[in-house]
Amino acid sequence: MPINYKEKTQEFHLYNESLSYIFHVLPNGHLGNLYYGKRLNEEVSYLRLREYGYRPLTSFVYEDEPSFSLQHTRQEYACYGTTDFSLPAFEIEQADGSCLSHFVYQGHRIFPGKPALAGLPHLYVTEEAVAQTLEIILVDSNTDTQLTLSYTIFNDKPVLSRHARFEQLGGQVVKLQRALSMSLDLPDWDYDWMHLDGAWGRERHLQVSPLHQGSQSIYSLKGSSSAEHNPFMALKRPTADEHQGEVLGFSLIYSGNFLGQVDVSSFGQTRVSMGIHPDRFTWLLEKGESFQTPEVVLVYSDQGLNGMSQAFHDVYREHLMRGFWGQRERPVLLNNWEAMSFDFDEEQILTLARKAASVGVELFVMDDGWFGDRNHERAGLGDWSVNLDKLPSGLTGIIDQVHGLGMKFGLWIEPEMVNKDSQLYRAHPDWILHHPKHSQSHGRYQYTLDFSREEVYQNIYDQLYKLLSEHEIDYIKWDMNRYMTEVYSLGHPIERQGEIFHRYMLNLYRLYENLTSSFPHVLFESCSSGGGRFDPGLLYYAPQTWTSDNTDAIERLKIQYGTSMVYPLVSMGCHVSESPNQQVGRPTPLSTRGNVAFFGSFGYELDLSDCHPDELEEIKEQIAFYKQYRSTFQFGTFTRLLSPFEGEDVAWQVASKDGSQVIVGFYRRLVTANLGLARLRLKGLDEQALYELDGKTYYGSDLMYAGLPIHNEVHVQKDKDFSSRLYILKRIEES
Ligand code: DGJ
Repeated sequence: MPINYKEKTQEFHLYNESLSYIFHVLPNGHLGNLYYGKRLNEEVSYLRLREYGYRPLTSFVYEDEPSFSLQHTRQEYACYGTTDFSLPAFEIEQADGSCLSHFVYQGHRIFPGKPALAGLPHLYVTEEAVAQTLEIILVDSNTDTQLTLSYTIFNDKPVLSRHARFEQLGGQVVKLQRALSMSLDLPDWDYDWMHLDGAWGRERHLQVSPLHQGSQSIYSLKGSSSAEHNPFMALKRPTADEHQGEVLGFSLIYSGNFLGQVDVSSFGQTRVSMGIHPDRFTWLLEKGESFQTPEVVLVYSDQGLNGMSQAFHDVYREHLMRGFWGQRERPVLLNNWEAMSFDFDEEQILTLARKAASVGVELFVMDDGWFGDRNHERAGLGDWSVNLDKLPSGLTGIIDQVHGLGMKFGLWIEPEMVNKDSQLYRAHPDWILHHPKHSQSHGRYQYTLDFSREEVYQNIYDQLYKLLSEHEIDYIKWDMNRYMTEVYSLGHPIERQGEIFHRYMLNLYRLYENLTSSFPHVLFESCSSGGGRFDPGLLYYAPQTWTSDNTDAIERLKIQYGTSMVYPLVSMGCHVSESPNQQVGRPTPLSTRGNVAFFGSFGYELDLSDCHPDELEEIKEQIAFYKQYRSTFQFGTFTRLLSPFEGEDVAWQVASKDGSQVIVGFYRRLVTANLGLARLRLKGLDEQALYELDGKTYYGSDLMYAGLPIHNEVHVQKDKDFSSRLYILKRIEES
């Protein structure tokens, strides 16, 4: 039983082989955390872990219990107003203007499996035996509001997840001012804080800094999870590195505005909070209504950052990415965007498709520019029917030809947006997010449709349903190329304007849900000007994401390295593009472009007609090679070895699930003259097993502890910047 309730002391112990998470009911009926970390032995009670004592200038809850103050108690879902002065997990405004809450423990339920979260993406389990769930019910009798805190722990993974639900039982209308998914109080602050920072073209770069007293946070108020911050953060012990040491990871399954915050108190306690950003958020609860927070996933690792990432990869592959494509190998694709932009006609598309088929591409993707009057950025968005001037045979004609070439067919859409120059906007100018008295800002000449409105949702659903039901489309790239401004909805009353951001997300998820269930065999890839909305929320529906518009192999080393902190290789769209690169102008060898892009869901994004016959031959070989090792690249165990944030040499490896194949990628960025010797130590091999590499055999122990001599073999193209080399190791099975 991985969830244990100690009735006498009202303690809950969630545990598996790797971790323990312990909390209890406090004297005032709230919940207090006792421990989160490496697995503890089962004891009669852990109440000794509740530290308290008298401190001057403290407010106390009871006169006859002079040490009980929430300020010095590690809370489980922090409540402001009654002796705690730190940032709370929730706040509820009541009819009389009070924001004081008093949620008292009423009871709990422990059961196998994990229920679904209605309307929101979440970790799912198909077999009850893999996880156990605890639901705690607390009630505030002043307002008749019920709070349910849910915890699920996985039996064989260092993973648990949390979320909260508020339900108004009584007649009073209350307003949630803040409803985070979790808060967690830790007893010390001996951590580095890590998160993924970025911008367009340099998404998810690693940021690490020591915790300091006071607050540090990451957030988005852009209406999407954003390129700037990702809904992920980790606390790592300062001595922890990629391979060893304690790391706590937090990842929010949500694609909209979010907050991730760490507060260190003056007494060295650390509060971790995560959820929907409280700015621009309110939610009214009338009798019988409820509010469900998104889910946050917690990973505990005592094997460094790689241990944390591997746990996120496993749980997201097995319990987040769903449906037909969730666990399936993804096709090698070619996308026409970098080759053609908006500038193409039917013949050019088919010429590229024929070339793609001849080198072994499996999925041909027609990107932006195929619909409405879409010949440039200023027109067409909102009108999801084919432009017959450009493509006279229509979509059906193109699709038949592509299928006839033995490839699948994919199409780009951007359903959340509209151009003013479109039939949809002309018919419904009030359907965009805007306020009638304010100017309307645009991004790339496009405006955001007000997805919080039912009629908007329905129109786009109908258009996309028609598109997908009338054509044999195998893949959809779902783009979103601007952040939201002037977020105000003409479809909702004044008192519900604080709900628009989240109502937008709920209908976005509903649209994805209905389309993916109506067309289960279509592979969806999400995109947002590259990786501007790469988050677990969308991975639930679209099991791969375009990682970045920056396709330069050298820049991609940082982007893919950072992205891999949370997201599995199969979820990352990685393409080879032309050289010099369109985004940064850097020339790189085709081999290095391939060697970087192999570590993900692989494809191309260039005009094959411009390629020299030798290059076409090399591309053919790359595709054949990728197909041979595809299951390892997409579903293997990924380990980072040398960080692009630390030195010129970068390395990583991926091992097939059974360990019989290990592929190592080694990349040298800038060459330095007369370098010293270097060895690359591999990880996670079987010490006693023999591995074959380039016709020689090595023990696993040799490769891990002595390492591969990088320098004194001609492994990388000598004296060349941006060279790379793959090592393919095969375990020799004993006969
Ligand atoms: C942004 C995407 O990231 C690109 O790959 C491409 O699809 C363009 N949008 C098309 O407008």
